[in-house]
Amino acid sequence: MATTVERVPILGKDSIHVGFRLVDHIRDTLLKTCPASCYVLITDTNVGPLYLDDFKRGFAGQRFLTYLLPPGEGSKSRETKAEVEDWLLEQACTRDTVLLALGGGVIGDLAGFIAATFMRGIRFVQIPTTLLAMVDSSVGGKTAIDTPHGKNLIGAFWQPEYVFIDLAFLETLPAREFSNGMAEVVKTAAIWDEDEFAMLEARSVELYTAIQSKSTPGAPISDAQKLLLHVVKASVNVKAHIVTVDERETGLRNLVNFGHSIGHAIEAVLTPAMLHGECVSVGIILEAELARQLGHLSQVAVGRLARVLKAYGLPVTLNDPRIAALPASRQLTVDRLLDIMRVDKKNKGDEKRIVLLSRIGKTLEERATPVPDAAIRKVLSVAATVIPGTPSKSPVKMSTPGSKSISNRALLLAALSRGTCRLTNLLHSDDTQVMMAALADLNGARFEWEDGGDTLVVHGNGGALKVPPPGKEIYLGNAGTAARFLTTVCTLTVGEPGARTIITGNARMKQRPVGPLVDALRSAGSSLEYIEGEGCLPLSIAQGFRGGHIKLAASVSSQYVSSVLLSAPCAAEPVTLELVGGQVISQPYIDMTIAMMRSFGVNVERVAEHTYHIPNGGYSVPPAKYEIESDASSATYPLAIAAITGTTCTLTGIGSGSLQGDAGFATGVLEPMGCKVVQTASETTVTGPKKGGLRALGLVDMEPMTDAFLTACVLAAVATEPPLPERRLTDGSPALTTRILGIANQRVKECNRIRAMIDELAKFGVQTKELDDGLEIYGKPIHELKQGVSVHCYDDHRVAMAFSVLGAVVNGAVLEEKRCVEKTWPNWWDDLENKIGLKVEGVDLHTAGPSSEASAGSVEDKDASILIIGMRGAGKTHVGSIAARTLGSDWTFLDADVAFEAKHGSLPAFVAGQGWPAFRAAETELLKDLTTRTKHVISLGGGIVETPEAREALKAYKGPVVAISRDAQAVLDYLTRDKTRPAYGESIEDVIARRAPWFAECAKYEFVNDFLPADEGRTVAASEAEVARFFGHVSGIAPNLVDLSLGKRSYFLSLTYPDVTPALSIMEALTSGADAVELRVDLLQDSSASPIPSVGYVRRQLALLRTATTLPIVFTVRTQSQGGAFPDSAEKEAFDLVDLALRMAAEYIDVELAWSEARIASLARRKGASTKILASWHDWSGGMKWDGADVKKRYAQAAKYGDIVKLVGKANTLQDNFALRRFVDGVSGQGKPPVLAINMGAAGQMSRILNPVLSPITHPLLPSRAAPGQLSYAQIQQALHLLGLLPAKKFFLLGSPIAKSMSPTLHNTGLNALGLPHIYGLLETAEVDESVRAAIRDGEFGGASVTIPHKLAIMPLLDAISPDAQVIGAVNTVVPRADGTLYGDNTDWRGIQAVIRGSDVALKDGWTGVVIGAGGTARAAIYALHKLGGATAIHVVNRSPDNARSLVASFPESYKLSLSLPTSSPTVVVSTVPGTSTPPAGLAFGAQGGVVVDMAYAPLETPLLKLAKAAGPGWKTVPGIEVLLEQGYRQFEMWTGRKAPRGVIQDAVIQGYRVQQGL
Ligand SMILES: NC(=O)c1ccc[n+]([C@@H]2O[C@H](COP(=O)([O-])OP(=O)(O)OC[C@H]3O[C@@H](n4cnc5c(N)ncnc54)[C@H](O)[C@@H]3O)[C@@H](O)[C@H]2O)c1
Ligand SMILES: [Zn+2]
Repeated sequence: MATTVERVPILGKDSIHVGFRLVDHIRDTLLKTCPASCYVLITDTNVGPLYLDDFKRGFAGQRFLTYLLPPGEGSKSRETKAEVEDWLLEQACTRDTVLLALGGGVIGDLAGFIAATFMRGIRFVQIPTTLLAMVDSSVGGKTAIDTPHGKNLIGAFWQPEYVFIDLAFLETLPAREFSNGMAEVVKTAAIWDEDEFAMLEARSVELYTAIQSKSTPGAPISDAQKLLLHVVKASVNVKAHIVTVDERETGLRNLVNFGHSIGHAIEAVLTPAMLHGECVSVGIILEAELARQLGHLSQVAVGRLARVLKAYGLPVTLNDPRIAALPASRQLTVDRLLDIMRVDKKNKGDEKRIVLLSRIGKTLEERATPVPDAAIRKVLSVAATVIPGTPSKSPVKMSTPGSKSISNRALLLAALSRGTCRLTNLLHSDDTQVMMAALADLNGARFEWEDGGDTLVVHGNGGALKVPPPGKEIYLGNAGTAARFLTTVCTLTVGEPGARTIITGNARMKQRPVGPLVDALRSAGSSLEYIEGEGCLPLSIAQGFRGGHIKLAASVSSQYVSSVLLSAPCAAEPVTLELVGGQVISQPYIDMTIAMMRSFGVNVERVAEHTYHIPNGGYSVPPAKYEIESDASSATYPLAIAAITGTTCTLTGIGSGSLQGDAGFATGVLEPMGCKVVQTASETTVTGPKKGGLRALGLVDMEPMTDAFLTACVLAAVATEPPLPERRLTDGSPALTTRILGIANQRVKECNRIRAMIDELAKFGVQTKELDDGLEIYGKPIHELKQGVSVHCYDDHRVAMAFSVLGAVVNGAVLEEKRCVEKTWPNWWDDLENKIGLKVEGVDLHTAGPSSEASAGSVEDKDASILIIGMRGAGKTHVGSIAARTLGSDWTFLDADVAFEAKHGSLPAFVAGQGWPAFRAAETELLKDLTTRTKHVISLGGGIVETPEAREALKAYKGPVVAISRDAQAVLDYLTRDKTRPAYGESIEDVIARRAPWFAECAKYEFVNDFLPADEGRTVAASEAEVARFFGHVSGIAPNLVDLSLGKRSYFLSLTYPDVTPALSIMEALTSGADAVELRVDLLQDSSASPIPSVGYVRRQLALLRTATTLPIVFTVRTQSQGGAFPDSAEKEAFDLVDLALRMAAEYIDVELAWSEARIASLARRKGASTKILASWHDWSGGMKWDGADVKKRYAQAAKYGDIVKLVGKANTLQDNFALRRFVDGVSGQGKPPVLAINMGAAGQMSRILNPVLSPITHPLLPSRAAPGQLSYAQIQQALHLLGLLPAKKFFLLGSPIAKSMSPTLHNTGLNALGLPHIYGLLETAEVDESVRAAIRDGEFGGASVTIPHKLAIMPLLDAISPDAQVIGAVNTVVPRADGTLYGDNTDWRGIQAVIRGSDVALKDGWTGVVIGAGGTARAAIYALHKLGGATAIHVVNRSPDNARSLVASFPESYKLSLSLPTSSPTVVVSTVPGTSTPPAGLAFGAQGGVVVDMAYAPLETPLLKLAKAAGPGWKTVPGIEVLLEQGYRQFEMWTGRKAPRGVIQDAVIQGYRVQQGL
């Protein structure tokens, strides 16, 4: 049964009808006014099943057809439109048909457009079912579909006959969709109607309740639903009005685009993961900030917008975790957004036009306003820079944001007073917002804004408070002050007998104590009851506050005291408040309350130290105007700018009468620095000395104003006059010293502020010294400070604002995180420009690379030192030093024990002398010190995790912390032997057991060292390649990822073993052609019977796998319903394993979409930049069609968190594979994640062949295939060739004579093994002539090896030469590049280096080398030895000394080449002369051994190699054929982009060689 229907006029007709349960009304209206031969209802498959029956019943007896479409934006397409039109024609629908669009904006836009063109236009009716459609898309007659070029590009203006807004539909709408619509509701109120906006602010909770409560047919609608009705109607009214005035969007209608200019640009990047309203919500805030920055809008308004949007569950910044966790968010660069905004329809030519607000409810113009790009850029930028200069507004007069404590008290006092009070300078924060809403709900006061929000008018009710109606709770969020103050206030409420007031809060609030206050009030005759936990909110409070003598324990919070004090005047009897229980904390806040009560006419008498007397009778008439004191810490920044620039600044709202400690900054710091300070009770004026004339402070105790010390630091940095005589330091400190003491507490604020100032000042070249209780700063002339410094702000508002003071005089200082000022002064940057007169510009630190793989972590993350923890004996030093070496030459390994001994002397002696606790304390201190360094790998002592303080420091550390773990028994063995460290004094087993969980808790990563023993007996050392891979990956310096750039094909091998051990020895063969290895964790089987492998087992398996390959690992836990073996119900266990994978730095983690979104989102947030998520969906039902709706939905889900999207369907016909490719092409593009899409089953093999991104492959050697239809790498290559997608290339060897060369065997074996169709042949020519040029420029040319005598002559024919080959002066490899150019490189030197490294001969610093010969190969050998690093000399020996001399002369001196033979035995010898030559006389092979490489191929054992062998077992010998292999592998890899299958190649080449040599 329909309730009353309200009508809203549009375009002169009452065609918008709003109400509840309207189906019958719709039928009646249509039959009467829109008679038709046929009614056609179009809806989607979400809405249809919910509501179609009602309509069918309603339209019984009529010709009523229905058509269901897949839900989602994908249906707004040309294809769907054609599909529906064809169907309408088939049904013989004629011009008098009426279309009913039942659904969200998608259905409305599509059905509307169909109606606009079908039979040249038929009638249609909007029946919106989403909030967005009700308030926005259904009203106004805009209809459209999307094309691949963009959204809504094809469409028409076509007005519906009616819009039936039935609010009952909202009852089934998902909460996220409700929020989505609320963005538009808030937007509309913001541009048009301040009252409506205020209502949205005050009643968010009720609105939320309204959509969740079901309406009963026939029953009167609830209050909450009335509210909803009102909100929707108000919003529709505005839109209808605007549309009526400007139907075709020529001016006024642009206003509804507020928030959309920037919002659309964001949406273009983040769709489909973020919804339209969510992007618009962020856009609203950014566009409001733009208006604020241009001086049109107050911060109050921006704050109100942000708070109300947040209240409806919407994101308000791009840093919102829902956005930041998305891979696509990296594409949100300023340039990209500006670029997208260029095509906004509101723009005029190049000029962008944006709707600017001038206050809540009003826009600056009745249309969009032109805005310069620079202004938009500034708003969008994450960083800011101040342009140095003289503040143009000097003498500046301004106020700074109000103090939070004073704001809250003033609100309450004004409400309890009888009469009107105007509050100015109120702080707008969540806390004050909550306080106001609660006071309003309690009938405590009415609020109005004046002066565009600068003044809050409070109409106080004199304490005549009312209990809210039943069912209404007062929700206080996490606002602690409000909760405490209002607990007492609620005892003053009056209501029906037995009525009680309920106050509650969020989960955190429900844990914060109020017990002592409740006890005290109970003793004063009040009735308060805990509803949930004892001692906390929620509370049920009855009327009645008797007063009298109240005892209160005030050692936990001074807010209890203030709470009783503030309400006491309204009690029945005068109150005597006695504070008991020892110490009273925060006396200054109690004093503040008493002082403010006096301003509101109540005198509190302090009758004893801890006893106060408060008269009753209530508050009387309040002061007409109360100015809230400015926050004193904020005040230091504008004053400091006056000081540093030599100008004048007056701050109102802060003076000598101030209640806050930091108010002493002007007289205590600025005056002694040489400023002129004039202070009245409520104003402070500071004039700085001539720029550059500040005095150092000498000694200053800042204990009373600790938060101001950062401001003092930046001034001290440029103080170049000596301190006042009475402040001078007499201990020999430098003349320009400022020593700040009394600020130790600043180490535990938003960041360690002392450290932050020291580190950031150092970037400017300012020297400082850290003290226990503060720091010293040594002043420097401004012009000597470094320019262009990038200041890290530690997300700390005070750091950012302090350094912007320095930015006023130093060029180019970039404040990296400009938004961190929001905590206390959100419009600081605007005020700096608009009120102080210093220009501020935006700086974009985001510079996303073209491929998402490229942008791993920010620069400063990559520099962060890596901390290594773990038991002594786990291998920290061994692993750590390899890590430092392989991370880069600018990295250093540091052993914390060594650093400790350098500072405190011998460690055992320290422990013996001072004991373990003292040692732990000193160690923790050292840790804090060490973590400030960058680019170090720091191995920490095993016991570092013993103290909570050190554990906290480790957990808070921003860079990687890696725990090295090793089999407990191996550690035990080691420790029982090691006597260099003091004994533990308890059993080692106990120590290991105790520390294990701490290591796990403190480290983000774990490097498993179990299989890499380094102690005697077992000589295998931790594989260098694995250490390099692990640390390169976790540091972000060299993420171990697959190149997924366009045009490259990539593959991963699926390992299907229950235990990977049998695969280890054949790993190379198994992985040939593969770019990555997938570990199917669900198929692993430990010794238990459980289908779930234990975490310990998987850890060991992963570690084993790492000993055999450094290929990236895809970590997959495939569930049963997705075709795997893991139980579907074991989500928690699956994510425990995923966490293990994260810890062990698995490169790719497969996440199934069926898992809960909360878990996936949390993973996305924690995973770091290097690890990638492969979001997967496998449709085993066979029901997912590649051109259907389901796959679009899956894709959208996967693209939200996946760095890679994996979609697997089933093919029944070959056609299904082409549909798949069409789908992938449709969703691929710049900034979109790569898509791995395949079909299972034999008919799907084609899709495996065509899929370019990480195709899963199998290998004949594997025990079973991972999935039906899986192919091997070689099979796929053969198929690609047959399909014409992989043309055969020609490779050859160029040289003479080359008939006997093993190169063809080498390369053809490899090509063949990988299934590649290419052929490698010989091109024997005496000269590099035209025939050679033709061969290498041929379209089929794949690459060439070049040998004697052409290594030099080939060079002029090439387009580019590698840097290595340039130094060597010879090319042995030609590679054709994708752009058609030819590239020359030299792999000889790499081959030489590889055999030397592979010989296991240790090259200790100071080794010597010998190169025999002086030709091209000798050059490569010299280069190889030099590149090994650490040689003291490389001796060059040749039969012809002249050639040797000119060879040596052509290398730089840094190569340390020598023409003489070494005097003692060398470590490395490389011979490049023919194999039959006699070894140089005088070359001695000493007993300590080394390695000898003979580049000659024949004989296998040359005289030189024989000689070395004879010298003893310490000598390793390498024949030329091995170098040929090594350099050949590299050539192969350069040409094919694939790892060479070394095993098969080596077997074939050695065998061929033996045959050839007759061996
Ligand atoms: N024409 C205009 O003036 C205008 C204005 C704004 C937006 N739009 C268009 O509107 C579209 C977005 O509209 P939308 O946000 O309504 O999205 P939508 O139509 O995709 O609906 C959102 C989701 O909610 C489901 N749903 C709808 N009603 C439901 C209900 N009552 N109960 C349960 N589920 C329900 C839908 O099936 C869908 O999955 C976009 O295409 C946008 O371009 C048009
Ligand atoms: Zn919109």
